[in-house]
Amino acid sequence: MTEQPVGAAPAPHPSEQSAWSGRFSEPVSELVQRYTASVSFDRRLASADIRGSLAHARMLARQAIISHDDLAQIERGMAAISAEIERGEFRWNLADEDVHLNIEKRLTALVGDAGKRLHTGRSRNDQVATDIRLWLREAIERIVELIRDYQRALLDLAERHAATPLPGFTHLQVAQPVTLGHHLLAYVEMAARDRERLADCRRRMNRLPLGAAALAGTSFPIDRESVARELGFDGVCENSLDAVSDRDFAIEFSAAAALVMMHISRFSEELILWMSPRFGFIELADRYCTGSSIMPQKKNPDVPELARGKTGRVYGHLMALLTLMKGQPLAYNKDNQEDKEPLFDSADTLIDTLRIFAELVPGITVRPAAMLAALGQGHATATDLADYLVKKGLPFRDAHEAVARAVRTAEAKGCALAELPLAELATYSPLIGADVFSVLTVEGSLAARNHLGGTAPEQVRAAIVRARKQL
Ligand code: ARG
Repeated sequence: MTEQPVGAAPAPHPSEQSAWSGRFSEPVSELVQRYTASVSFDRRLASADIRGSLAHARMLARQAIISHDDLAQIERGMAAISAEIERGEFRWNLADEDVHLNIEKRLTALVGDAGKRLHTGRSRNDQVATDIRLWLREAIERIVELIRDYQRALLDLAERHAATPLPGFTHLQVAQPVTLGHHLLAYVEMAARDRERLADCRRRMNRLPLGAAALAGTSFPIDRESVARELGFDGVCENSLDAVSDRDFAIEFSAAAALVMMHISRFSEELILWMSPRFGFIELADRYCTGSSIMPQKKNPDVPELARGKTGRVYGHLMALLTLMKGQPLAYNKDNQEDKEPLFDSADTLIDTLRIFAELVPGITVRPAAMLAALGQGHATATDLADYLVKKGLPFRDAHEAVARAVRTAEAKGCALAELPLAELATYSPLIGADVFSVLTVEGSLAARNHLGGTAPEQVRAAIVRARKQL
């Protein structure tokens, strides 16, 4: 939707100033108007608002609450308003407070009394609750699709590196060899759960608040189910007070969004480390990096750093919404107007981050030699040696102890375990024979972990096939 600045209020006569000013003896101050208005940000809900209004109006006509002629006028007016918004010609007016009143006022200007009848049996409270759900539903659909794109990019890279050895770390110390493909598949799994969480949130959220009116329902003979069907909801909110007041769905979305960002932030952290010359495992394409204005040699991983940084603001929005709700008595309170900016910003941040990561991943250049060299420095196959001894009958704890002593010797000599002569290795256990060298190699270690969920290249390839099917 085209965004345009909110026009200054054209100082209308107090009695025409707002939809509710009849009750008041003086207009609100300019400061209060600005403080309480939401049109500067909630006009993003315009298309949802119009869709909701049209469904409501059609139901009113079906139920003979308004005439079919009124409905035709409303439909005509709304079509004109949509076109004005589309062209960026709609005049958003701060004095009309929010997206709902701006559109309703314009409708009335265009079609007269029919426009004034639209709000029959409805309140802005159930209207806004409906709009956010419609908007968020689409945002979730977009985000889920983008997570899929990101997963596809990870899978393509994983496929190319199904057998590329990488040091697996615990405590950021070399632990055991893994394949890069296996490592990347961990992020594919996280993203799959992220998608599930969002789908779950969408499912619970997808109920229609309209009909709750201000809080207690309405005295008009409305038909909520038909409105729900027209708007693609799976049902209606079954308690009017709950319908207008809770924003738990927004909090659920924010929590799911925070988890998406947390996962991307962990990946970012690894990309940043891996790109550091100390690791040198990868290169990021220049277009995702920037230089330094003073140090000519620098190539900084700005995109992953920003993703890591933006994770904080998405967490912040989750906290903001939880806090927003915790003290609110039933039913609607104006506090709820504060739900929108955090929601919009979280959705925007996710959409941008996912789009950029789906592009960035294919631009990663892998340096397998550096990964292998790092593996060579960490005695990464020590566990394989212990397992070897266990398979020859030694209890695991004794095997662990024997290998630990061998590692100390290798450390002292500044060599890898596999570089110790057989005679020397055999001093740590008489069970060690010439066949030991096959288990001490990285390839042997990787191939040995050949079970569901293991890092063996064969398993990685099978996992990729499964993951692709789930997309
Ligand atoms: N702009 C308001 C919001 O975002 C719409 C609902 C206003 N309702 C009211 N009773 N003042 O929550």
